[in-house]
Amino acid sequence: MNFPLKKILLIGDPVAHSLSPAMHNAAFKALNLPLVYEAQRLTNQELAGFFRQLRNSEVAGLNVTVPHKQAVLKYLDELSPDAKKIGAVNTILVRGEKLYGENTDGAGYLRSLKEETAIDLKGKSVTLLGAGGAARGIITALCQEQIAHLDIVNRTGFRGEKLAEEFQKYFPKTKFFSFTFDAKKLDFIFKKTDLLINTTSAGLSGTQESFPKLPLEYLSKTALVSDIVYKPEMTPLLKQSQKLKLKIHKGLGMLLYQGALAFEKWTGKQAPVALMRQTLFQALS
Ligand code: ATR
Repeated sequence: MNFPLKKILLIGDPVAHSLSPAMHNAAFKALNLPLVYEAQRLTNQELAGFFRQLRNSEVAGLNVTVPHKQAVLKYLDELSPDAKKIGAVNTILVRGEKLYGENTDGAGYLRSLKEETAIDLKGKSVTLLGAGGAARGIITALCQEQIAHLDIVNRTGFRGEKLAEEFQKYFPKTKFFSFTFDAKKLDFIFKKTDLLINTTSAGLSGTQESFPKLPLEYLSKTALVSDIVYKPEMTPLLKQSQKLKLKIHKGLGMLLYQGALAFEKWTGKQAPVALMRQTLFQALS
């Protein structure tokens, strides 16, 4: 029996760099699913029109990336408990008239971090760059692992401050602080950081944004530097960190596991993780 082909779309800006289409299409094919994954560049201005046409269309689900993870909330009918707490969505299920929002970023990041670095996050001091949708998912996952201290560093100061204030209420056991990139205190913050994570889109290929200068030389020799940007694989932050002989954690694992969790939500089937990982490595090389 032939089922009509349904689409899963990735919406964001930029999306041309994305490896998600290769990863998901390989998985759909392997499981013989009547689904095809496509990336669609969508500006902020186009978002409302896109959601007006989405219900009852050939689209069965979405991934959402920079810069729309928070902006899409107002178009959805229901949020999963995780997405509600995080306040951002990277995965949407389209079920007839209804749109359901989910977030697999935090869980995907955590799985990759633990698998690749074996870090025990309990009691750790973390510095996180960025205060957007991706940051929200990752902060939630880190606090659930009982980190002791979180410094949020963001280009737009008030956005970082608001995020720190909001999440301090949800996670009273973690101490939150916020700074901007030009804060004189960054060297002091870096000295006591166990884990530095870039969640900003700076350094991502396809954007014109340059990565802010950071006093990485103040990080302890045992600090771990993690970047969620996966293209280029060695981002400006990871390159600088490697030069300083610091341990690094690349972004590809988060892409894989957030994708595997999203796949399971769209299809109800177990994701072929090994095949998806292999496809990503091939696509990158
Ligand atoms: P996402 O949902 O993927 O997290 P987002 O909500 O647009 O995307 O957030 C992007 C983050 O990257 C923000 O923290 C943004 O900083 P601002 O709040 O100041 O906009 C950060 N960002 C993007 N380009 C940057 C750059 N060149 N330097 C520093 N931070 C940058």
